[in-house]
Amino acid sequence: MTAPTPISELASRTGSPVVVKGWVRRIRSSGRIAFLVVRDGTGEVQCVFSRADLDDATWQTLTAAEHESTVAVTGEVCADKRSPIGVEVSANSLRVLSGSPEFPIQPKEHGIDFLLEHRHLWLRSPRQVALMRIRDETMRAIRDFLHEDGFTCVDTPILTGAIGESAGTLFETEYFDLGTAYLAQTGQLYVETAAAALGKVYCFGPTFRAEKSKTRRHLTEFWMVEPEVAWMDSDGNMDLQERMVCYVAARVLDRCQADLGTMGRDLDRLAAIVPPFNRMSYTDAVARLQEAGHEIEWGSDLGAGHEAALTEGRSKPLFVHDYPKRAKAFYMKENPDNPATVKCNDLLAPEGYGEIIGGSQREDDYDRLLARIREEGLPEESYGWYLDLRKYGTFPHSGFGLGLERTVAWLSGAQHLRETIAYPRMMTRITP
Ligand code: 4AD
Ligand code: MG
Repeated sequence: MTAPTPISELASRTGSPVVVKGWVRRIRSSGRIAFLVVRDGTGEVQCVFSRADLDDATWQTLTAAEHESTVAVTGEVCADKRSPIGVEVSANSLRVLSGSPEFPIQPKEHGIDFLLEHRHLWLRSPRQVALMRIRDETMRAIRDFLHEDGFTCVDTPILTGAIGESAGTLFETEYFDLGTAYLAQTGQLYVETAAAALGKVYCFGPTFRAEKSKTRRHLTEFWMVEPEVAWMDSDGNMDLQERMVCYVAARVLDRCQADLGTMGRDLDRLAAIVPPFNRMSYTDAVARLQEAGHEIEWGSDLGAGHEAALTEGRSKPLFVHDYPKRAKAFYMKENPDNPATVKCNDLLAPEGYGEIIGGSQREDDYDRLLARIREEGLPEESYGWYLDLRKYGTFPHSGFGLGLERTVAWLSGAQHLRETIAYPRMMTRITP
């Protein structure tokens, strides 16, 4: 097989003969000249054919080329000022490699259920391609930031024996003779142990929540990056989140301009993501919400509506910290000056995107943690190893989890999480 020239490299091949292989985006013909737009995953290019240069059969094949069929085009690269990539292909021959009769996704409006049903084909659309690239850049930026900052990646298990977050959203599976295993809701408990070995660590992988919720912000399988740092308190934790989120936003803005353009994203929104982010206590947040007429009692977690109200009119994310103990997970450290609250924070993205990060300082006292495990009715025997961390050289430590899909949705301007991952898993969808 002759290796084709990637479309992304055509601009540096002006005047050279090339073979381009890819999928047909569209075909338009005036009778004398035909314009075939081909994409290959690295970009798209217009190939111009002249009727006079082709035999009848080839011209027929060309003008009947089907949307998303695969083709090989031979021709010469010519500079062209009107082209978004600066060149087009002056083509002299065409081979159809595979047809694509009645490609299901046409350039018209399709309903979301139809698109999700055809996700394997929908992925080829420009908007979906842009989103996958923005997601990829976001992941890379996160890893680069953490590695430049001295973190070591420690992968944590997906099959686990202890509940990480809350019993209500567990996926369970039978595990040989050992009883029930759970799909990880978080890698946190394990990265905490790794922080005692390596200092600054993170895990980054899929996590699972049996969320019986059909909102645009919930998936049952989502990716989370979870940094964990020894000798860092809750304030330091927020500083770290702020630095990471600003780094990632700047990188995506710098490297994904074209894809953000495809998404119709207002670039000024991303340029505004610079330190510092405001920090507001949960207690203050509730007071503000009550003043604004929201129905909320001190003690309950903030809902999506509350989060949207708190960030309204803001151009940057907002930290809300020190939530009530009873609204949060068992492992968070009690506030010495107000034991009804814990040393934790959520980071709320603006424009109604809501919580993208949940973080906290961890309870590092053996007795207090054991008491919390008992209070929550969690199976004590499963947490022996986690409690050991407080028995053998306990240390203050903090960390957080940033939801990748929520972050990608916010950065790209996508309205719903289902577009930000190749194959979204939701309460009502497990295929394709
Ligand atoms: O706030 P959460 O539940 O925190 C934890 O899991 C901690 N163990 C993290 C840590 O401290 N290491 O989840 C963290 C983030 C949320 O802020 C949100 O961005 C995302 O994970 N998230 C979801 N994303 C999509 N679908 C869901 N069902 C999600 N649940 C949480
Ligand atoms: Mg949370």
